[in-house]
Amino acid sequence: TVKDGQRVFDLRSQAGQSDLGRGGRTGTWGYNGALLGPTLRATRGERVVVNITNGLGEDTTVHWHGMHLPARMDGGPHQPIRPGATFSPQWRIDQPAATLWYHPHPHESTERQVYRGLAGMFLIDDPATDVKSLPHEYGVDDVPVIVQDKEFDGDGQFDENGRFGSDIGILGDTLLVNGTPNPYLEVTTELVRLRLLNGSTSRLFNFALSDGRPFTLVGTDGGLLDRPYQVTHLPLSMGERAEVLVAMRPGERVVLRSDPPMPDGDFAERRFHGGGDRFDVLELRAAGTLRPSAEVPATLVDTPRLDPATAAEKRSMTFTSRKINDRKMAHDRVDAVITRDTTEVWTVRNGHSTPHSFHIHDVQFQVLGRTDGGPVPPQLSGWKDTVFLPPHEGYTVIMRFTDFADPSTPYMFHCHVLRHEDEGMMGQFVVV
Ligand code: C2O
Ligand code: CU
Ligand code: CU
Repeated sequence: TVKDGQRVFDLRSQAGQSDLGRGGRTGTWGYNGALLGPTLRATRGERVVVNITNGLGEDTTVHWHGMHLPARMDGGPHQPIRPGATFSPQWRIDQPAATLWYHPHPHESTERQVYRGLAGMFLIDDPATDVKSLPHEYGVDDVPVIVQDKEFDGDGQFDENGRFGSDIGILGDTLLVNGTPNPYLEVTTELVRLRLLNGSTSRLFNFALSDGRPFTLVGTDGGLLDRPYQVTHLPLSMGERAEVLVAMRPGERVVLRSDPPMPDGDFAERRFHGGGDRFDVLELRAAGTLRPSAEVPATLVDTPRLDPATAAEKRSMTFTSRKINDRKMAHDRVDAVITRDTTEVWTVRNGHSTPHSFHIHDVQFQVLGRTDGGPVPPQLSGWKDTVFLPPHEGYTVIMRFTDFADPSTPYMFHCHVLRHEDEGMMGQFVVV
């Protein structure tokens, strides 16, 4: 609803029960329902307010992953919502059209709360950075696809223990798409746009189509790319998003699947970190006749490139065990003080052999290069807020910190393997 020129959303985090095909009711958590939450949507320039009521028996927060907003509204560990309390963050949307998401971020309980089902999408519209001819009809040819893995115990409840021998947290053998087991999508148009979110707590995906046909990558975390890319595989780590277009022929069926994300990994990576796992994700079932879709344009949006020569500061962050630069998260320690309206270049690197990722709040970054000198793939060519750090590898990224300064409220950067984050692989920065 829109009230006094503000777009108002109401979210209530609560416990419930879901039928996930495990012979009964699985205890799950959701916003305004038993599992996941509504898709929120707002347009650039709008003021939004979200009234969040905590209907759980423990503290929670709601973090706007990918959103550019003041630190006090960010929903990180510094904005806990006590049981029964309501928190109403508000801010003005000011960033390109993008597929963002929201999820809890309470100190040391993020993995468990996300795993139980607290997550939803937040779509940003912006005519200036969108392409009108791309599929746009929500739920028809423009479809959110939240992919999450779950492990069930013998009673059909979520098993939260984590795989034996695994160093990365819970890995499930069952996939849910938008909270649904064995999902399919009825496609009624020649082109369907899937807004993919890896909403898993620690599983990597490597999306492909069952017959190996190429599909079109048009967007990543922070918005649309400069141009479309034809790809046959799309790796997506925890918290990352991608927008892809799949071309369908009348009456056919094709399965979006996930191939092994680390096929060349060592035994531990393949067996204990899910690197060798494959899944069927979502079956696409085309109707007998399909509504024509517009051609995909040869160029999409014109993204200004940040220039490393303008960087005011260079920093290096190395991720090992549960630490960043040998330090675990500490509430009373600020790891980086950043001057507003400056650009910084960070080298983010995985210093050992367990998979990690780098995610930063408030800003979107651009990838300048790989630490091993290799090429930057299409899925890292646009605005990003999260990037996978393969064992012993990393990236140089550039980002600009604008608009919001608050010396007393930190933002977070961390590994998005949520167990790692909970166990201390997180740092804090303030913009002053
Ligand atoms: Cu998606 Cu700090 O989180
Ligand atoms: Cu975030
Ligand atoms: Cu990690």
